[in-house]
Amino acid sequence: MCSVVGYVGKNRSRSFVMEGLGRLEYRGYDSAGFACLNPDDHRLLYAKSEGRLDNLAKELDASPIDGFISVGHTRWSTHGISSAQNAHPHFDSQKKVAVVHNGIIENHRELRAQLEEAGHVFYSETDTEIIAHLFEVLLLSHKTFKPALIDLVNKLEGAYAFICIMQDNPDQMIIVRKRSPLCIGIGDDEMFVASDALAFAGKTNKVLYMPDESFALIKKDMLELYDFKGQPLHPPVQILDLDWDVHEKMEHDHYMLKEIYEQKGVIHATIDFLRNLGNRVWDHIGVSQDYVAKLDKINLIGCGTSWHAARIAQFYFEQICMIPTSVHLASEFRYKPFFTENNALYVAISQSGETADTLEALRLINSTEIPTIALTNVASSTMVREAGGFLLTQAGREIAVASTKAFSTQIATLYWFAHRIALAKGLISQQQMEQAESDILVAAEVLENSLENYKVAIAHTYAKKYAQYEKAIFLGRHISYPFAMEAALKLKEIAYIFAQCYPAGELKHGPLALVDDKTPIFVFSTQDPLVYQKLLSNTQEAKARNGHIVVFAFDGQEELCALADVAFIMPHVKPLLSPLAMTGVMQYLVYSIAKELGRPIDKPRNLAKSVTVE
Ligand code: AGP
Repeated sequence: MCSVVGYVGKNRSRSFVMEGLGRLEYRGYDSAGFACLNPDDHRLLYAKSEGRLDNLAKELDASPIDGFISVGHTRWSTHGISSAQNAHPHFDSQKKVAVVHNGIIENHRELRAQLEEAGHVFYSETDTEIIAHLFEVLLLSHKTFKPALIDLVNKLEGAYAFICIMQDNPDQMIIVRKRSPLCIGIGDDEMFVASDALAFAGKTNKVLYMPDESFALIKKDMLELYDFKGQPLHPPVQILDLDWDVHEKMEHDHYMLKEIYEQKGVIHATIDFLRNLGNRVWDHIGVSQDYVAKLDKINLIGCGTSWHAARIAQFYFEQICMIPTSVHLASEFRYKPFFTENNALYVAISQSGETADTLEALRLINSTEIPTIALTNVASSTMVREAGGFLLTQAGREIAVASTKAFSTQIATLYWFAHRIALAKGLISQQQMEQAESDILVAAEVLENSLENYKVAIAHTYAKKYAQYEKAIFLGRHISYPFAMEAALKLKEIAYIFAQCYPAGELKHGPLALVDDKTPIFVFSTQDPLVYQKLLSNTQEAKARNGHIVVFAFDGQEELCALADVAFIMPHVKPLLSPLAMTGVMQYLVYSIAKELGRPIDKPRNLAKSVTVE
């Protein structure tokens, strides 16, 4: 996935496009590119560079180009390595058409072969270049844009959003959307186009989200929108309260650290927001209280960290609401049989609200009668628009690729939501509901205080120690197992240390063979007395084989701590909130290890914040 940004209007546009790309760099940072039409003679000018946007900015400062119509791109590589050659924009054979693209053209091999047979020469390994060449061919045969575009979109398979500017039509831009997000900001004698409206926040608040399978012809004061059959479309223009406040790292070295520290505050904000919804919660989620009271099945779906939050929340819905709950990995969901269920609910969990795997799963469920809810952090996201209802976490913008405060606010929201359903079902009283809200705030307090307690020791001692290992084993049981998975993901993602997670009870079924003095074992405890005893035995099994043990335990768990080479001990919280209590120390430890290793923490290699390809 990538980001595309475009401008046509009364102003020279390079500074807007570059700033917009900067705001959307969370979508990929393998390479960047810019193209515009020279105001004097309409020649297509461009610059591309490998790596971060800064490299492109330097190149453009050294050899400035600008124009009243332009496009820009940041790339997350899918087809072809990260290189200046594969950076967008890509061109037709005559270099008169420039295309920037987000998504995947699934039939690119077949189309490339056909075009090559007809004499076209390609300069990159990308699927995007095919769009430019195919458009060139179709424009020649159809002569006008509309029929050429209808033919083009019917030949392209996959999910894509692209913007195209043309030397021969210097005041017009073409934009096309199928599945990948794309929106238009309507200004005064100017139009902004981007993968995410954040790119033009502060320039206009009039936003048109392109309907799925649509294309538009845009001039500075004209917008024609069509479906893929060429029928005109007139979707509503939304007035959005878009804001781009410059998100400073403040005194912190990295956004990730700032976001770790923000957690107590944003959990409070989230609970305040949910509490204030009162009975409006049912309107928000688009499901009546009566339907909720009769629920027989809950399904949670997500990817990565959001999937881990779902795995933790499975315990909430099953233990607090007594409703059987399944958790689905969104990337696998569409490829297994789908059974409709009565009195069921699907909750799609996603920080960004844009993750393609989750979105496609949501679309599949939306084609049935089962109600869907998006639990996301971004009010203007595609999932909020497409799900039957929504619940918003109040984490504020999360900039670091590694999710931290989004995760803790997801857990807090899901714990709250489970109690809200239990209240609707008559399983708990209003007083117990309020108690649950206070319990979340207590856990947030513990999250922050434990982090404060251990941060000096972590930064000065433990980070150095654990940065020396090349691999690690993570163990948990019951609710701490999905939390251990989240911890292992964090270590892999930002420190590049291989971390394998197991339910502790599985150790003896094979992984025990891995235990040696080169592989620290991180054990995450629970407060359930029975599970704790089992976890203790599993840890003893590892210790007996000379394993180096690091435990995350709770007050009074002396036997577990006695087995540990290092122990982080937290005060008690409500047992189901123990993952929230451990979150701050876990994230800070992993962050400090990555810092010790000099990793680019906020933008780890090969990753992007928002994954909009499947
Ligand atoms: C988290 O640290 C990851 N960067 C990643 O796993 C992320 O949680 C996943 O891509 C899902 O994103 P979403 O919550 O925006 O859908």
